[in-house]
Amino acid sequence: MNILERLESIREEAKERISMQKTIHDLHQEKAKYLGKKGVMADFMKMMKDASVEEKKVLGKSSNEVKQAIAQFIEEQKKQIEELAIQQKLESETIDVTLPGQQVETGTKHILNQVVEEIEDLFIGMGYTVEEGPEVENDEYNFEKLNLPKDHPARDMQDTFYITEESLLRTHTSPVQVRTMLAADGKPIKIICPGKVYRRDDDDATHSHQFMQIEGLVIDEITTLADLKGTLLEVARKMFGEDRQIRLRPSYFPFTEPSVEVDVTCSNCDGVGCSMCKGTGWIEILGAGMVHPNVLEACGYDSEKYQGYAFGMGVERIAMLRHGIDDIRHFYTNDIRFLKQFK
Ligand code: DAH
Repeated sequence: MNILERLESIREEAKERISMQKTIHDLHQEKAKYLGKKGVMADFMKMMKDASVEEKKVLGKSSNEVKQAIAQFIEEQKKQIEELAIQQKLESETIDVTLPGQQVETGTKHILNQVVEEIEDLFIGMGYTVEEGPEVENDEYNFEKLNLPKDHPARDMQDTFYITEESLLRTHTSPVQVRTMLAADGKPIKIICPGKVYRRDDDDATHSHQFMQIEGLVIDEITTLADLKGTLLEVARKMFGEDRQIRLRPSYFPFTEPSVEVDVTCSNCDGVGCSMCKGTGWIEILGAGMVHPNVLEACGYDSEKYQGYAFGMGVERIAMLRHGIDDIRHFYTNDIRFLKQFK
């Protein structure tokens, strides 16, 4: 066998051996065997060192061709092995679409948010828009412009968390009234505003240092206490049932005049008297009144031309009455067993 024939037989043998390899690992072994530093082709090159210059030229070219060919065989075989592996994986991993799926447990909307959304829906249906305001408020909006100057005794009812002398965690959603009036530039207003409020209170079954309110404000040229009463009757019926009645009792808030406290007939005993309504047949649900002229003037409205009414209700209180919840702290402790009941 002359030397060129020997080269040809290396190529043939390599081709056959490479085509028989089934794994990448084995293929690497073959690559080392033929193309490695101590491999067949390296040996072959060593053999050439005694050849004449003429022979070297021819052999050099041919051996390079064979090396390239072997590299090519390896590359092709590698592709085949990889394709086969994918093929096998696809076959072994067929998905049975008829198997039952895995149940994902879904949470529920928090009961307080459910109540807020229900009340929002009701008011949107009556032409109101929903506003929001910041929870860190300034003294001026939380108190002063609401007719509660510094040192006013009624501030004691709403002791709060001060951040600086002039900024605090809002004690009620009423400052959103101020913000809305200042921004409305003397035009009519019809808004509600839900949100969190804060008070320095000792927490117990009915008190929490943080709770939620929904504020309402209507300003126009002709608004009356009768409009307010009709509106609140709607709220009471939506929240506590179609048969409910309400009554207004005189009360005091610095930002309204006259001011009222609103009671609804007890849905537990239908007004007869039971432990829930402490035998009175009535349950207090919110505060309201006609916007005080001082508030209108402080917020850029001519109080001779405009009047309005406002109201504020506690969301927790409504939820507690409606669902017979006996402790306000249940709303915040995130006990799944409690939250799940309001799916
Ligand atoms: N801001 C009052 C409170 O937190 C509730 C309230 C009463 C709001 C009367 C009003 C209102 O808008 O007219 O106790």
